[in-house]
Amino acid sequence: SMLEAAHENDIELEGKDHDALWALHFEIDACEASLACSTCHVIVMDMDYYNKLEDPTDEENDMLDLAFGLTETSRLGCQVI
Ligand code: FES
Repeated sequence: SMLEAAHENDIELEGKDHDALWALHFEIDACEASLACSTCHVIVMDMDYYNKLEDPTDEENDMLDLAFGLTETSRLGCQVI
Protein backbone atom coordinates (compact mmCIF):
# COMPACT_ATOMS: atom_id res chain seq x y z
CA SER A 1 0.00 0.00 0.00
CA MET A 2 0.99 3.63 -0.16
CA LEU A 3 1.52 3.50 3.57
CA GLU A 4 4.04 0.71 3.33
CA ALA A 5 5.80 2.55 0.55
CA ALA A 6 6.03 5.61 2.77
CA HIS A 7 7.55 3.49 5.53
CA GLU A 8 10.02 1.85 3.22
CA ASN A 9 11.14 5.08 1.67
CA ASP A 10 11.28 6.96 4.92
CA ILE A 11 9.01 9.67 3.59
CA GLU A 12 8.43 12.72 5.73
CA LEU A 13 5.10 11.98 7.34
CA GLU A 14 4.17 15.25 8.88
CA GLY A 15 3.60 18.61 7.30
CA LYS A 16 2.73 19.38 3.72
CA ASP A 17 4.91 19.18 0.66
CA HIS A 18 3.07 20.64 -2.29
CA ASP A 19 5.46 19.08 -4.76
CA ALA A 20 4.52 15.66 -3.53
CA LEU A 21 1.61 13.56 -4.67
CA TRP A 22 0.49 13.28 -1.09
CA ALA A 23 0.27 15.57 1.85
CA LEU A 24 0.60 13.30 4.81
CA HIS A 25 -0.69 14.09 8.23
CA PHE A 26 -0.25 12.84 11.73
CA GLU A 27 1.13 9.47 12.56
CA ILE A 28 0.36 6.52 10.38
CA ASP A 29 -0.57 2.95 10.92
CA ALA A 30 -1.96 3.52 14.40
CA CYS A 31 -4.53 0.75 13.95
CA GLU A 32 -2.43 -1.35 11.59
CA ALA A 33 -4.70 -0.66 8.64
CA SER A 34 -7.80 -2.13 10.27
CA LEU A 35 -9.94 0.96 9.58
CA ALA A 36 -10.23 1.75 13.27
CA CYS A 37 -8.58 5.15 13.22
CA SER A 38 -8.04 8.03 10.85
CA THR A 39 -4.45 8.84 11.68
CA CYS A 40 -3.32 7.65 8.27
CA HIS A 41 -5.41 10.36 6.57
CA VAL A 42 -3.69 11.60 3.46
CA ILE A 43 -4.65 14.27 0.96
CA VAL A 44 -3.92 13.39 -2.64
CA MET A 45 -2.42 16.46 -4.30
CA ASP A 46 -2.80 15.22 -7.86
CA MET A 47 -6.43 15.00 -9.02
CA ASP A 48 -5.56 12.74 -11.96
CA TYR A 49 -3.94 10.31 -9.58
CA TYR A 50 -6.86 10.54 -7.18
CA ASN A 51 -9.28 9.67 -9.96
CA LYS A 52 -7.30 6.56 -10.82
CA LEU A 53 -7.60 5.14 -7.32
CA GLU A 54 -10.24 2.58 -6.43
CA ASP A 55 -13.25 4.20 -4.80
CA PRO A 56 -13.18 4.15 -1.02
CA THR A 57 -15.32 1.55 0.71
CA ASP A 58 -18.15 2.56 3.03
CA GLU A 59 -15.92 1.65 5.97
CA GLU A 60 -13.19 3.94 4.71
CA ASN A 61 -15.67 6.76 4.11
CA ASP A 62 -17.08 6.37 7.62
CA MET A 63 -13.61 6.67 9.10
CA LEU A 64 -12.67 9.52 6.77
CA ASP A 65 -15.64 11.47 8.10
CA LEU A 66 -13.83 11.56 11.43
CA ALA A 67 -10.54 12.73 9.95
CA PHE A 68 -9.29 16.21 10.76
CA GLY A 69 -9.13 18.59 7.80
CA LEU A 70 -11.06 16.38 5.39
CA THR A 71 -10.82 17.42 1.73
CA GLU A 72 -12.38 16.21 -1.52
CA THR A 73 -9.26 14.21 -2.26
CA SER A 74 -8.74 12.76 1.19
CA ARG A 75 -8.10 9.05 1.57
CA LEU A 76 -6.90 6.75 4.28
CA GLY A 77 -3.32 6.01 3.38
CA CYS A 78 -3.44 2.43 4.59
CA GLN A 79 -6.28 1.63 2.18
CA VAL A 80 -4.76 3.07 -0.96
CA ILE A 81 -2.83 0.58 -3.06
FE1 FES B 1 -5.88 3.15 10.99
FE2 FES B 1 -5.34 3.46 8.35
S1 FES B 1 -3.96 3.05 9.99
S2 FES B 1 -7.29 3.42 9.34
